[in-house]
Amino acid sequence: SNIKLDITKAASFLEAGAVKAFEPKVKAAQEALENGTCPGNDFLGWLHLPSSITESFLDELQATANTLREKCEVVVVAGIGGSYLGARAVIEALGNSFSWLIQDKKNPTILFAGNNIGEDYLAEMTDYLKGKKFGVINISKSGTTTETALTFRLLKKQCEAQMGKDEAKHVIVAVTDAKRGAARTCADKEGYKSFIIPDNVGGRFSVLTPVGLLPIACAGFDIKQLVKGAADMEKACGKNVPFEENPAAQYAAVRNGLYGAGKKIEIMVNYQPKLHFFSEWWKQLYGESEGKDKKGIFPASCDFTTDLHSMGQWIQDGERTIFETVISIEEPNRTMLFPSDEENLDGLNFLAGKRVDEVNKMAELGTRLAHVDGGVPNIRISVPKLNEYYIGQLIYFFEIACGISGNVLGVNPFNQPGVEAYKKNMFALLEKPGYEADSKAIKERLAQ
Ligand code: PA5
Repeated sequence: SNIKLDITKAASFLEAGAVKAFEPKVKAAQEALENGTCPGNDFLGWLHLPSSITESFLDELQATANTLREKCEVVVVAGIGGSYLGARAVIEALGNSFSWLIQDKKNPTILFAGNNIGEDYLAEMTDYLKGKKFGVINISKSGTTTETALTFRLLKKQCEAQMGKDEAKHVIVAVTDAKRGAARTCADKEGYKSFIIPDNVGGRFSVLTPVGLLPIACAGFDIKQLVKGAADMEKACGKNVPFEENPAAQYAAVRNGLYGAGKKIEIMVNYQPKLHFFSEWWKQLYGESEGKDKKGIFPASCDFTTDLHSMGQWIQDGERTIFETVISIEEPNRTMLFPSDEENLDGLNFLAGKRVDEVNKMAELGTRLAHVDGGVPNIRISVPKLNEYYIGQLIYFFEIACGISGNVLGVNPFNQPGVEAYKKNMFALLEKPGYEADSKAIKERLAQ
């Protein structure tokens, strides 16, 4: 079975036939993706990635992951944005909620770094790693991203100091461009094992390359199942699948319809805290792909029921510019029955004998009805189980839907010109060589 999309409670907010009216545009977008005639057509390497990954490549990745798993009690994954969120999304979705607290475990602790410039964060990580056997996966396509490069220099020095330069070489792995960038130069010079990020796969579409697959394999998850799920979704969302049966086409159509009807904010909702970082990954995918040319739905996220006690008021009753997309996991991986209690002091005996998930599901259904009544369109994606295979399906579903949706919106979903502005200012302020004129200009501006 596959993940299932239900758009009925969103389409009902639009005029009859409004979703169907997008069919020609959606079809044209999908044709343009397939034929490579859309804007950003040099970044379409993700489109048939799942079906083209070979078994032997996955074995090579697994072998490197196994080396790190054998040699290290901690693996630090350094990367930011598209070189970070996919791995974290999958590892947190599939892992134990308390993984870092579990002693005597089969899997190394996975830490994420290089995604911020917090001095306390880095100092506290350095403390934590002291005396521990740790490895590093340094992930950067450009190989020059400040947050990641700065962190990697600290980690490399600590690793070499603790393990010796020779042993450090066996536990540091680079995932970067084939030729360009400082991360490539360093990996080649030091003789690190390295994996290539294909030129034609942009950061936010790269989770099914070594960017995501290597950390996920290190954490002990089945990358073959993940890729299989994605490959099955590649078929389910193929360009010849009829519009009504193609979940990616339907999602792209309905969200563009809602956007046109004034619903400018999409809230990705989960009812499982493990999916928090999946929403973070989704936010980058859609925000960076569609937010340009002064257009684009603002992607937001909430963890329910947690945030029903904070953001619930706004969602139920605030400005009616939002819609929700809910990821619902049909069957949890664990079973917990709620116990009966003779005294019933908490008054909860009406739940005795029920699964905790039944309470969660009724919370979801009740919320859905309330929010729809309150004017919030609701898209629902139901996922049979939280495992590698279905996460793989979700990843590809959101990627292809994003490619289609961005094209329907009329933007190039594969560039991100807007992310350069802050970097230019930061480098000018830090007096990076090559930024002399910008430094002068920004200082004059600040002195005014
Ligand atoms: O999606 C993107 O392109 C960005 O989020 C990048 O992944 C991010 O800026 C990191 O870039 P790099 O991999 O070059 O270090």
